[in-house]
Amino acid sequence: MSLSRRAFFRNLGAGPADSASREFIAARGREALVNEMWRSGLSYEEAEAQFGPPPEGAIVISSNENPLGPGPAAYQAVLDGLDQWAGRYPTNFRPSHADLMQTIAAKFDARSENVTLGTGSGEILENAAKAFTGPDKALITADPSYMQAVSVARRHGHPVKTVALDANLRLDPEGIARAARGAGLIFLCNPNNPSSTILPASDVEALVSEVQRSSPDTRILIDEAYHDYATDSAHQTAIPLALRTPNVFVARTFSKAYGMAGLRLGYGIGHVDTIRTLAQWTHVFNSNNLANAAAVASLNDPAHLEQERARNTAARDYTIGVFRDLGFEAADSQTNFLFVNLGRPASEFRDACRERGVMVGRDFPPMENTHARVSIGTMDEMRQAAEVFRQVLA
Ligand SMILES: Cc1ncc(COP(=O)(O)O)c(C=O)c1O
Repeated sequence: MSLSRRAFFRNLGAGPADSASREFIAARGREALVNEMWRSGLSYEEAEAQFGPPPEGAIVISSNENPLGPGPAAYQAVLDGLDQWAGRYPTNFRPSHADLMQTIAAKFDARSENVTLGTGSGEILENAAKAFTGPDKALITADPSYMQAVSVARRHGHPVKTVALDANLRLDPEGIARAARGAGLIFLCNPNNPSSTILPASDVEALVSEVQRSSPDTRILIDEAYHDYATDSAHQTAIPLALRTPNVFVARTFSKAYGMAGLRLGYGIGHVDTIRTLAQWTHVFNSNNLANAAAVASLNDPAHLEQERARNTAARDYTIGVFRDLGFEAADSQTNFLFVNLGRPASEFRDACRERGVMVGRDFPPMENTHARVSIGTMDEMRQAAEVFRQVLA
């Protein structure tokens, strides 16, 4: 039987393959592999041989992806784009690369010149490390925090200074400001991965003012990958601050709440001068037509984002309760993952869970002997995972 491509993908979208293809777009379960590549310089093939794909049927709550993938509007945009536009460059496609930048800019009362796109926000982080660190311009980061910018700085032989989290596993703004004197770049992950906590907006502003005073040439990159999952009103986006402060810029991603980790799209937003420098490091057309179309559809569907935030909050609250009933506290999570103090090596917990079909997060030095990271899946997955947590931790 001959099917048109459109009919084929319509069928795919309507059948049981639908949720599988959405999960595929969300690219679950590959974080440990990538991290090992950064840490030890393994090639992709070597890391793949070591980690392999998640076992068939496992509950994969080891990487912080959206378990459901993109929303219906974004999903439909991908199907339509694949059918009609996959053969075209992003200038010849609607929405184009430029349309996406305008849509993002409009959302924040900014101009396209304030926006640069990335193949995931990881590219923004990497470009920032390339553009703003150097042999005598250190990168400052919390410890533990997200390692992508650090891995690039280290690879280039640029110094990295780390600042420990405080007792509540929050970023330490005074410590960061002190360490930043003369530095090239501060990487501020807010909410922070893996600790899941926020630095309140008032503290972010105070930190920025202090760095402007004490180290005016230092750039500050605020990574808001998990912004859309935060529910504490003390957390606010730093994008307005970035737009009016030349040294500050923000990275955002479509990989988390928008469920598009497999489509690879993120952006940097900030003052024109900083964005221009950052954009010098990007590859032209580093986003593809399908991701662009899905992103525009997602940005025009705020109701779906609300729904995803509510879904995550319910599953997160449930999982916090499970650990609390077992006698273990998680840090105050404003993300789609928990960082739980189990008082034992994360590897013990991880191996015991894996034997029972549940994959939880990798080690996060220097806290790998006490804390484990558990990503939030669907409520159904968290209920099944809870059974395993009870067996392993009782
Ligand atoms: C804090 C943080 N920033 C950035 C990224 C990069 O995500 P992506 O390149 O998929 O946008 C991740 C991914 O896990 C992350 O946790």
